[in-house]
Amino acid sequence: MKIAVVGTGYVGLVTGTCFSETGNQVTCIDIDQKKVEMLTNGEITIYEPGLEKLFLRNLKEERLVFTTNLEEGIKDAQIVFLALPTPPGEDGSADLRYVLGVADNIGKLLTDYKVIVDKSTVPVGTAEKVHAAIAKNCKVEFDVVSNPEFLREGVAVDDFMKPDRVVIGTSSEKAKKYMSDLYAPFVRSGNPVIFMDERSAELTKYAANSFLATKISFMNEIAQLCERLDADVDMVRRGIGSDERIGKRFLFPGIGYGGSCFPKDVQALVKSSTEVSYDFQILNAVMDVNEKQKLHLLPKIRKFFKGDLKGKHFALWGLAFKPNTDDIREAPALYIIDALLAEGATVSAYDPEAMNNVKSVIGDKIQYAESQYDALTGANALIIATEWNEFRTPDFLKIVSNLKSKVIFDGRNLFEVEAIGELGFHYESIGRPA
Ligand code: UGA
Repeated sequence: MKIAVVGTGYVGLVTGTCFSETGNQVTCIDIDQKKVEMLTNGEITIYEPGLEKLFLRNLKEERLVFTTNLEEGIKDAQIVFLALPTPPGEDGSADLRYVLGVADNIGKLLTDYKVIVDKSTVPVGTAEKVHAAIAKNCKVEFDVVSNPEFLREGVAVDDFMKPDRVVIGTSSEKAKKYMSDLYAPFVRSGNPVIFMDERSAELTKYAANSFLATKISFMNEIAQLCERLDADVDMVRRGIGSDERIGKRFLFPGIGYGGSCFPKDVQALVKSSTEVSYDFQILNAVMDVNEKQKLHLLPKIRKFFKGDLKGKHFALWGLAFKPNTDDIREAPALYIIDALLAEGATVSAYDPEAMNNVKSVIGDKIQYAESQYDALTGANALIIATEWNEFRTPDFLKIVSNLKSKVIFDGRNLFEVEAIGELGFHYESIGRPA
């Protein structure tokens, strides 16, 4: 099929590349000329494991092309995906300016039937707004479909190629046929394509992310309780996760959820609820718990250093909001850095992928180390903020020889409490005995 993808951000680039991988002819469109030039020249603009190989292969086969020209880009397409940003506005609601702006332009350019697909996370009712924006200037038949994406950063290619489910919101039989044909190669394993109305599809995305965020905040509160009741959250997690109704995944306590999706989507769903006079109480609590959890290590650190962090130097492992990404949006590490610096401490950080991004935001407020071990030199303690695999079985002898004292505050529960205690470390983690 012939596909156009408007917006070559994270979702757009993964979507375009993966559709070209199954043999479709894909044109990706972006207003950012520099980005389009880079992509055309084979320079990938995001870090996502496994994506570059697919991107280069399909670029070479000319199944994947990039342009800044919307008219040219959508001309031959049967399906046009909108993968545009929906940043939170000042009041927390999703800002639809980019989505509706492009819809407006598409309306002026349509000359034959096309399916226009909302891939961005958008509030309930957006498909109708996109439809109206296109219809304003358009004389030909078209359909607007809601097809939310459920990709996780770091495993996005796998999530796209082998989705647990594909959700498609449309009331048009014609659009339904186009979308079924397009997704057929991705659901050969038997995972479902779930058809529904546009509004339910839009809400499904917010409900999924909000439910997962709730699961995390719930476990973070159980971890808080474990610390006060001398219980071990790892045991409780395994104990409840074996119940299939609860499930083993997404039960890991830590220093809060971050990233570009959960914080924004939970907030937007609360805002949408308020607009229809519904007080979504659970989600307000989920947000509150998460705000506090991001700084959960701080009281522990303060207590250990008897309330005085002035002049103390900390090694920080991990800056990205989670492993396998260079994304630092709403990363707990940044909140920890702010708090430490405000109390007069200094920080030397290491992250395998995210250091350049942090540098472009906070510059030289902290030091950036060449390796995880270099970060430790002269530090009073090590703080772990992201569970990169390379932090999981480190060389403890090197840690001991570089750190000033054997102290670790672990926001991701990477080590066995007993084993690390035997090595002589003062070790504090989340929801487990100190
Ligand atoms: C999330 C969803 O998982 C995707 O399905 C969705 O498509 C995406 O948002 C989106 O809306 O675009 P992502 O933000 O990439 O994906 O990250 P996740 O892997 O879901 O992790 C989110 C946060 O939860 C991270 O900060 C992570 O550290 C935290 N987390 C996750 C925990 O604290 N505990 C867990 O057990 C799992």
